[in-house]
Amino acid sequence: MLRKLIRVNLMAMFGMVAMMLAYGAATASPQDKDKKDEVPDIKEIMSKGHKGSDAYITKIKDAVKGEKWEDAQKYAKTLAFFGEALGKNKAPKGDADSWKTLCEKYAAATKAAYKGTEDKDAKAVAKGLGAINCGECHKLHKK
Ligand code: HEC
Repeated sequence: MLRKLIRVNLMAMFGMVAMMLAYGAATASPQDKDKKDEVPDIKEIMSKGHKGSDAYITKIKDAVKGEKWEDAQKYAKTLAFFGEALGKNKAPKGDADSWKTLCEKYAAATKAAYKGTEDKDAKAVAKGLGAINCGECHKLHKK
């Protein structure tokens, strides 16, 4: 019983570390070096995660389309890390409870997309990414 618990804990820790390493490796650049232990801020999450053809969300879609599952997993892992990190930031505007709820939805959606890439299930990835509601959150919380 206890042994099983310890194992589960270790695995959870390992998962976190792997996710942080993936994030570090994916975004490492000289300017980022001294802030890599910090939680990425909202602007960083938004621009690296969603903005333009170089954003993770686009890279995931492209990799899935090309059935490059390893790439898709790598990108989706970073987006899921962003998903966890977003709610650790304070919203620039709006109600704190609503921010918490929407961040939890975002975390769940990015996590579902990541799981989809692990399962090599294009539909599940699309469903996870499709559950990210940009407008709903921007309307309430973006200045
Ligand atoms: C759970 C909330 C939430 C979701 C979901 C969300 N955003 Fe945002 N986004 C924000 C907030 C809050 C800001 C304002 C950040 C600030 O001004 O500090 C923002 C800002 C942005 C910016 C401007 C970044 C900058 O550098 O000023 C872009 C681009 C953006 N979001 C794109 C998207 C896209 C595309 C999606 C959907 C795929 C999305 N966001 C989903 C909350 C969210």
